[in-house]
Amino acid sequence: MIRVGIYGATGYTGFELIKVLVRHPAVEIVFATARSDVGKRLCDIFPTMLTTPLVAVDQADLAAADLVFTCLPHNAPELVPLVQRALDAGKRVIDFSDTFRLRDPDDYERRRGWPHPAPELLTAAVYGLPELHREAIRTAQLVANTGCYPLTAILPLWPLVNADLFADATVIVDSKSGVSGAGRALSLKTHFGETHETFSAYNVGRTHRHLGEMEQETGLHIIFSPHLLPVYRGILSTIYVNLRSTATLAEVRAAYDVYRNEPFMRLLPEGRLPELRHVQQTMYLALGIQPVEGDPGRYIIVSVLDNLLKGASGQAVQSMNVMFGLEETLGLV
Ligand SMILES: NC(=O)c1ccc[n+]([C@@H]2O[C@H](COP(=O)([O-])OP(=O)(O)OC[C@H]3O[C@@H](n4cnc5c(N)ncnc54)[C@H](OP(=O)(O)O)[C@@H]3O)[C@@H](O)[C@H]2O)c1
Repeated sequence: MIRVGIYGATGYTGFELIKVLVRHPAVEIVFATARSDVGKRLCDIFPTMLTTPLVAVDQADLAAADLVFTCLPHNAPELVPLVQRALDAGKRVIDFSDTFRLRDPDDYERRRGWPHPAPELLTAAVYGLPELHREAIRTAQLVANTGCYPLTAILPLWPLVNADLFADATVIVDSKSGVSGAGRALSLKTHFGETHETFSAYNVGRTHRHLGEMEQETGLHIIFSPHLLPVYRGILSTIYVNLRSTATLAEVRAAYDVYRNEPFMRLLPEGRLPELRHVQQTMYLALGIQPVEGDPGRYIIVSVLDNLLKGASGQAVQSMNVMFGLEETLGLV
């Protein structure tokens, strides 16, 4: 059994992670932390859940764990010291935030405007995307779990880069996310009255914090427009690419053969585009490809995933399975 500790167990991703882990045959949960709900039990917050006591971060029994999941906000001051402490104690760590996702400390500083608080951890961390980095994840001490928006762009774009199909390296990624992407903490932007029966764009262009990992993993120049969709879970991204004018639909579709053995990738048949409901509550990333009529080389790709599963907690469990030499789909299908 893998003994796992969960930091930030009362958040959206923490809750989703526990829902996956309680069904996982090779996992035992040894602790769960909270902040405002310290002293309660997990089932006091989520009534169908375990009776595990909720402890403060510094009360967690780190020694009892083989692996910890850190599901804290990126700006929690406890996060980096906590990850450092766990690694120093010889534990393996899967971090959910974007703190360790960029490999290059200079790139981090350029994009954020300040230096990384622990640059040596940046270079040691492995980007937690098994479809691209499976071998490195197997032996990683620190895995930087992928961002949910970035995954909807990286997984559709990378095969086209790999097949050398791009005529123009500038790509437009237009994404729409359900409100659970913003976490459970109260905020004006995501409360019911502000999101119900409306639809809005935010951080458009080149300002969103998750642009960096999309560009790092694809090598493309990306214009990214995220939107807040009035649904709870799921992301749909519409991606506009300009490929070589000779690239036929058959050639473009063939580029995705690299995913033929990937258990969670679904390329839809010609003429079909995916919807959120095809993937909500599942681990699948589904995508469809549409040529732009009368405009050779231009294609529109639509990709969808569940931000809390393939985009966060399920993805972390997929990486955990790889790290511990288990069947990659264990507990996930
Ligand atoms: N939501 C998504 O779809 C998604 C997808 C991919 C990645 N992520 C990343 O996953 C991480 C967690 O996201 P989330 O959506 O689960 O957030 P969330 O719902 O806000 O939950 C955060 C958790 O961390 C705890 N926490 C917050 N500040 C803390 C602090 N200073 N010290 C100790 N504990 C603290 C919270 O406890 P209290 O509630 O008591 O404050 C809660 O248990 C974030 O880094 C996020 O960017 C999220």
